[in-house]
Amino acid sequence: SEIYLNGLNGVVPDFTTDGTALEAMAREVLRPEPYGYAAGGAGSGATMRANREAFDHWRIVPRMLTDATDRQLATTVLGTELPAPVLLAPIGVQSILHEEGELATARAAAALGVPMVLSTASSYSLEDVAKASGAGPRWFQLYWPNDPEVAASLLQRAKRAGYSALVVTLDTWTLAWRPSDLDQAFLPFIRGTGIANALTDPAFRALLERTPEEDPQAAILRWVGMFTGTDKRWDQLPFLREHWDGPILLKGIQHVDDARRAVEAGMDGVVVSNHGGRQVDGAVASLDVLPSIVRAIGERATVLFDSGIRSGADVVKALSLGANAVLLGRPFAYGLAAGGESGVRHVLRSLLADLDLTMALSGNARLAGLNPDVLTRSL
Ligand code: FNR
Repeated sequence: SEIYLNGLNGVVPDFTTDGTALEAMAREVLRPEPYGYAAGGAGSGATMRANREAFDHWRIVPRMLTDATDRQLATTVLGTELPAPVLLAPIGVQSILHEEGELATARAAAALGVPMVLSTASSYSLEDVAKASGAGPRWFQLYWPNDPEVAASLLQRAKRAGYSALVVTLDTWTLAWRPSDLDQAFLPFIRGTGIANALTDPAFRALLERTPEEDPQAAILRWVGMFTGTDKRWDQLPFLREHWDGPILLKGIQHVDDARRAVEAGMDGVVVSNHGGRQVDGAVASLDVLPSIVRAIGERATVLFDSGIRSGADVVKALSLGANAVLLGRPFAYGLAAGGESGVRHVLRSLLADLDLTMALSGNARLAGLNPDVLTRSL
C-alpha cells in the first residue's frame, strides 16, 4: 500500500520489485567479473537451475473465507527473534558488489530486525560489521580453518562481538569448477578481498610472524589455504562445542544421514543448502531433499533452508515442506549491487511484503498452519 499511495503523488519505487529485473540492474552496474562471481554456478549450471525448477514442481492451493486478516509472521529461531522466518544468507566478499559491502547489508538488515549471517570471508572485519549492525540480530558463518588456534580465535571474536548463533559451512572445503570465474581468472580472495577477518585476527597474525614471508601475497595464499583441503571429520565436531557455547548449525547438508549425524553429534540444527548450485554441478535440488530431512530430524532440531528462494511464494513452499525459516541469498546481493544499503532494504521489505500477501491470499494467517497439505505436487 505504501508503494500505491506514493504513486498517487507520482512517485514510483527507486528499484524494481521484479527480481529478474533487479538482477539485470545489478548486471548493468557491475563489472563482468563480480557479476559472474555472484550469478554464476558450478559447471553447466544444472543444479542452480534445478534449485529453481524444484519450486515450480510445488504449487500452493489457496483456501478461501479463512479470515486471514490478522497475520502472524514473527517467529523465534534458536533464541533469535525474527519479524518473519527469513534470514540473510552468508555471502562473502560483498565489497566486490558495493564498496560499503557487509556494512550496508548489516545496516539494512538491522533496520528491519532481520538477522544477518556474516561470512568468514567478509570484506570488513566481523567487529566492524557488528558495529554497523548495532542492536540488530547477527549470526556468524564459519569456514572452519585448518589451524585450531585460528578457528578458536575467530569463534571467540565472534562471540565477543555479539554474534549469537554459529553456522558452520561444510560444502566449500575447495571451490568448485565455476566456468564464469575460471574464464575471467577471477577469484576475489586472491586479490585480497574477503580477508579482513584474517588481517584483524591475532592468532593468524601470530602465525605469520612465526614464519615471516616477504611477499604480501603469501599472507593471502596462506589464509585461503586455511580453508582448502581440510581434514575435517564428524568426530571433530566437539571442537566447535568446546569453543562456542551458543547454538550451532551445519550448513550444506543434503543427505538425510548427514542430517541425522549432525543431530547425533549434538548440533542444534542444519541448513539444507547446496550453496546455490555453486559447488556440485549435477547435485540434487535443495528443495527436493528438504522433506526427508525434516521427517528425519525436524522434531529434534532446527531445519533452515536455502538455495533458490526468490519470492514470498517460495518461502511459503519451503516452510510448508517443514523448514523453520529460510535464508535469502543472491537477491539481496543484487539489491546491494544496485543500491547499497537502500537496495538491500528494498529487497528485504519486498520479500517480507510479498510473503505477507501470499500468506493472506492463500488463507494462511499463521506459520504454524503451514504444512505439506498447503501444497500440491505439479509434475
Ligand atoms: C555464497 N554463499 C556462501 N555461503 C557461505 O556459507 N559462506 C560464504 O561466504 C558464501 N559466499 C557466497 C557468495 C556468493 C556470491 C553467493 C551467491 C553465495 C552461499 C549462500 O550462503 C547461499 O547458500 C546461496 O546463496 C543460496 O542460493 P541462492 O538462493 O542465492 O541461489
